[in-house]
Amino acid sequence: MNPSPSPALTLRLSVTDRCDLRCRYCMPAAGVAPVSREELLSFEEIVEVVRAIQQAASPVAVRFTGGEPLLRKGLAQLVAMLSAEGVCDLALTTNGQLLADAAAELKSAGLRRVNLSLDTLDPKRFVQISRSGDLSKTLAGIEAALECRLTPVKLNAVLMQGVNDDESVGLARFALERGCQLRFIELMAIGEALVGHADRFVPTAEVRARLETAFRFEPRLSDARGPATVFPVQCRLSGRRGTLGFISPRTHPFCEGCRRLRLTSRGELRSCLMHEQGRDLRALLRNGGGEAALVTAVQEALSAKAVSGTPPPLNRSLMAEIGG
Ligand code: 5AD
Ligand code: SF4
Repeated sequence: MNPSPSPALTLRLSVTDRCDLRCRYCMPAAGVAPVSREELLSFEEIVEVVRAIQQAASPVAVRFTGGEPLLRKGLAQLVAMLSAEGVCDLALTTNGQLLADAAAELKSAGLRRVNLSLDTLDPKRFVQISRSGDLSKTLAGIEAALECRLTPVKLNAVLMQGVNDDESVGLARFALERGCQLRFIELMAIGEALVGHADRFVPTAEVRARLETAFRFEPRLSDARGPATVFPVQCRLSGRRGTLGFISPRTHPFCEGCRRLRLTSRGELRSCLMHEQGRDLRALLRNGGGEAALVTAVQEALSAKAVSGTPPPLNRSLMAEIGG
């Protein structure tokens, strides 16, 4: 019998730390310190890193993150370059503000699917949470992603006590109506969210209890990959069916079996979201370290992955530097 193929390794590739929003749980009001063009990995350097990862682990999937990845000029070109490298899945995590205009080009470049952040359906709250931005643009981004078949379209919501914790049912109905999968992400004590975390934190069990008043839950899907626990659900009101997911880093850590690596926009390779430092691949690339040195660095990062299954420690890094 053939051994079962190892699951794909996902590289979370941050292409910029910058963002056009300032979500209170993620970005300081003043944004992040500017990074010069030379400091960023070029598209060609990113391709070299992806090739090295493919040598160390196969197959490899890439998810573009940030900051807001759509702020990186020429992103569609990078998508096309990685598509030509035989990356098995190309996905994007975005706040959706700029997606309506970019979706068609990204799709033709080879992007398969998108995840969008959607914490509220109330325009005023959207501005309170993101300190800027325009809900209607993110909603237009969701429609564009569906039209361009960047599917499955997944929506991410971070609920916070006293801010938007009353929106779980409304957000879930919105997602089901559009055939999107909504995932509720527990607020992580990381970077900006360290302040007031205990007061704002809403455990998954509480979100689920509220959702059960409006949806019938079936047993969880066993084949779902990634950090989310996913359930088929049916709306008690409309009868509409769909799936809802929970990502619970605090109450249900998912470190075991994690196959994710992170590359910052400046070329630091991190084994785990909770590591404050990583391996400087940019120095290796620019000092002529060669492919073998890159592959070794990737192998080291893979063996440094935490598999303890214990809740992660605090991390002072900004989420926007390490790609969520
Ligand atoms: N806790 C939980 N989720 C967060 N995100 C950003 N910061 C945090 C945090 N402190 C989410 C964003 C986005 C995803 C990539 O990460 O809302 O949807
Ligand atoms: Fe930008 Fe996403 Fe952070 Fe909000 S959560 S500031 S959209 S990177």
